[in-house]
Amino acid sequence: MTMPMIGALPEGKNEFALYVEGLTVAFNGFVAVNDLNLYVEKGETRVVIGPNGAGKTTVLDLICGRTKATSGSIRFKDIELTTMSEHKIVRAGVGRKFQTPSIYETLTVRENLEVSFPRGRTVLGALAFRLTADVVACVEEVAEQIFLSTHLHRPAELLSHGQKQWLEIGMLLMQAPELMMLDEPVAGMSVSEREKTAELLNRIGKDRSMIVIEHDMEFARHIADKVTVLHQGKVLAEGSMDHVQNDPRVIEVYLGH
Ligand SMILES: Nc1ncnc2c1ncn2[C@@H]1O[C@H](COP(=O)(O)OP(=O)(O)OP(=O)(O)O)[C@@H](O)[C@H]1O
Ligand SMILES: [Mg+2]
Repeated sequence: MTMPMIGALPEGKNEFALYVEGLTVAFNGFVAVNDLNLYVEKGETRVVIGPNGAGKTTVLDLICGRTKATSGSIRFKDIELTTMSEHKIVRAGVGRKFQTPSIYETLTVRENLEVSFPRGRTVLGALAFRLTADVVACVEEVAEQIFLSTHLHRPAELLSHGQKQWLEIGMLLMQAPELMMLDEPVAGMSVSEREKTAELLNRIGKDRSMIVIEHDMEFARHIADKVTVLHQGKVLAEGSMDHVQNDPRVIEVYLGH
């Protein structure tokens, strides 16, 4: 059997949501992402793992337009993202959750979800829009999914750390992104919160493509269709969880520690 080359376009008639090719970014000469190729199928949940400083967060920064690439291409549904602004990338259907939750602490759970509905963003300010029936319905549906139906009236600052992480996922869901990217969504969560988050991601991952950065291998195994191991800005290994966990190079640079 011939092994496919790491980082090569997978063969077959798969449909891809995201094509990342030759992606490179250097910060003052330090190459954080180095000629990276990454192909994510429609409906796939891809988990990205790797040691600290491997370039995982930087890859998400590049895809969502927060960081500009030095060279290379990122195509999402035939749209080239590398030249687009961050908010246009959001409107194209790419949603991203950061490593630390960025919710509005003083607003209630309901208000946090309402302002995340795309029509909510007006020049008059986040809350200056009419709450139409579809916004209300969307809020209720999302609150149910993120286990916060009974907390809609609570100020977000009173939520537990795990609930804040769920709320931020909910804020992304309000935008109904076709590609959702999450950076360490279960960091700091309890075991039961991790299990519920895996259940949540498996449910919302049915309708969309996802890229999830995670250090928790147990959690990764529960949600991943495929795993990419990054090391020094490059793909070190790619495949099923079993495949990458048994790869001696992955054990050496990451799992063995
Ligand atoms: N804006 C920046 N300017 C300079 N260096 C940066 C910048 N962003 C990232 N880096 C560097 O690029 C490398 C990759 O960082 P990145 O945050 O992507 O790693 P990571 O894989 O997400 O690590 P972790 O698991 O710790 O979150 C690091 O050495 C980091 O210091
Ligand atoms: Mg990171």
